[in-house]
Amino acid sequence: MINDAVREDIRHSVLCWLATVDENGQPNVSPKELFTDHGEDAILIADIASPVSVRNLARNPLVCVSFVDVFRQRGFKIAGRTRLIAPVDPDFAVYGARLQELAGPDFQVRHAIHVAVTRISRIWAPSYALFPDRTVEDQQARAHAAYGVRPASSA
Ligand SMILES: Cc1cc2nc3c(=O)[nH]c(=O)nc-3n(C[C@H](O)[C@H](O)[C@H](O)COP(=O)(O)O)c2cc1C
Repeated sequence: MINDAVREDIRHSVLCWLATVDENGQPNVSPKELFTDHGEDAILIADIASPVSVRNLARNPLVCVSFVDVFRQRGFKIAGRTRLIAPVDPDFAVYGARLQELAGPDFQVRHAIHVAVTRISRIWAPSYALFPDRTVEDQQARAHAAYGVRPASSA
């Protein structure tokens, strides 16, 4: 389920947005910068400072996670089931190490949030459907102009 297209958009997305629900069904959503793919069917998200998400996940492991490459104007939406992995858990060495590497020495990963993917779907900006002749490069150039961003290189 996690293929190269997903990996590419994860790499180019500054943040993912993690949605959980509390015991009353009240949704909670918050941004996470530290996330990565893990194998073919999971992503990992770092809990650095996410007490509400963690509290909700302890009761209800179901989540929805979305991320978009704002310049290419596309991304993915992932539905999944989570497992919270604390540093005392022997599995933390497997799941937490990559996140701690991403976080660097200044931030402590309190939990690795392992999201086993159950469903994944594309997110496209409406302009892809409205203007099908536009290439990804066109989309990117327009997004740079719209957001007032000058790319450092053409890569
Ligand atoms: C740009 C940005 C990146 C963030 N990245 C993370 C992250 O990777 N992990 C984390 O736990 N919190 C991260 N945060 C902080 C949480 O989003 C923030 O503490 C939020 O209030 C947590 O809410 P929650 O308890 O509902 O999850 C980030 C915040 C911002 C603004």
